[in-house]
Order: sequence, then structure tokens, then C-alpha cells
Amino acid sequence: MERLQKFLSECGVASRRKSEELIVSGKVKVNGEVVKTLGVKVSDSDVVSVNGEMISKSLKEYYLLYKPREVISSVKDEKGRTTVVDLINTETRIYPVGRLDYDTTGVILLTNDGELSNLLTHPNNNITKEYIAKVKGFFKKDDATLLSRGILLNGKKTKPALFKLKKYDKKSDFSYVKVVISEGRNHQVKDMFSFLGYDVLKLKREKYAFLDLSGLKSGEYRKLSLKEVKQLYSLK
Ligand code: URA
Repeated sequence: MERLQKFLSECGVASRRKSEELIVSGKVKVNGEVVKTLGVKVSDSDVVSVNGEMISKSLKEYYLLYKPREVISSVKDEKGRTTVVDLINTETRIYPVGRLDYDTTGVILLTNDGELSNLLTHPNNNITKEYIAKVKGFFKKDDATLLSRGILLNGKKTKPALFKLKKYDKKSDFSYVKVVISEGRNHQVKDMFSFLGYDVLKLKREKYAFLDLSGLKSGEYRKLSLKEVKQLYSLK
């Protein structure tokens, strides 16, 4: 037996807090009866529905994909572009954990485990993401310091991060910069560079928490091990 809000979040309906709101607002039924109180417990044999749609726990699947360029980080695309889900061979309804831009490559996780997905994308949990960015021009030390300390982006200061020049190619005038951030705002890395006038030509996510791309080529994926899943759960 487990609390109804925990059950809903494990089924991927919403975060635990949002699930509580769904319950209180009368959207959730257990065995055909509306349940509006938060203390109720359910087991796997109870029939639970949200807005009239039956939900259930299916077996959890976890994948790490090396996302290529020109693949969209969503389940479906109205323009018919290839999605990250298209690249994984499964019948299960999985979805990406967070997003990478269409032209960004690298590590992306996919799962049908709503609870883990909520945990990893929750801003308070500070999951680190490591990128390598190819930017036009020489990336100055002072700019690295500014971006690492935090800048005002869309009215909100970015959390402390790491921006570090790895290599400057004088001939082509490109810098390669290592970036480690613990937030996941939309286009955050590109927007931070752009704040100081740098153009990001390529962006690759090399690490998501402790998970990297070793053993994978672009477009390839692997399942996470049970140990890795447990380790991800312990990050909160
Ligand atoms: N930051 C970006 O700007 N783009 C990504 O795809 C990921 C992080």
C-alpha cells in the first residue's frame, strides 16, 4: 500500500505536489469513487483514474541515449522530425528527462519513471550537467569568471557554475569551453554565452550527473543498470 499522491507520481502523472493538487481538486477516482483527501492509500490492485483516464504502473525502463544533431527532444513532433524516442527500440511509452536543443548532441536520459524524471528535473536537486561548447572567438578569463559566478538571465540570477577554456584554436579562432551547470533552464548555456556576445557553434552534453557517453557512438543507446538507477535516486 502507498499513498495516492506517491502512486500518481510514480505512474508519471505529475510531481507529488501537483498530484496532491489533482486529488484535492476532485480529479482523481479510486475504484470509481472520487477521493479528495490526501491520507488515502492504494495498492496495485486498486483501479485509479485521473480526469477519467485509467492509469497504472508499468515496468520501468531507463535508457541513456547519445543524441545526434537534428533530433528533437520530445515524444512527438508535429513537423515530423525524428525524436529521441524514435531512436529507442521499445513498445513502452518513454519520454526524455529534460531537453537538449535540436542541434545539441550528447547524453540524454529517457524513461517511463515519472518519479525519477521529476526528481532529476526539479530545480532544487542541483543535478550537474557537463557540456563542451565550441564558441567563436577567444573566450576571455574574465568572462569565464563572470559566467561562473552567475549572471541575470530573464530576470533571475543563474546559479554558480563552471566555465573554463579548454582549448583555443588560433587559426580558426574557435574556443572550446567546458561548462558545468546545475540548472536546466531552456537554452541556458547558449543564452549565457550570448549574454557576453559569444556565438555557440556547437554544443555537446558530455555528462548528466555521473553518467557519460563512454562506449556509445552518436545515435546509440544503452539501458541503465539497476545500480545506476539507484544512484540517480540517491542524488536528491
Ligand atoms: N543549454 C543550451 O543552450 N542548449 C542545450 O541543448 C542544453 C543546454
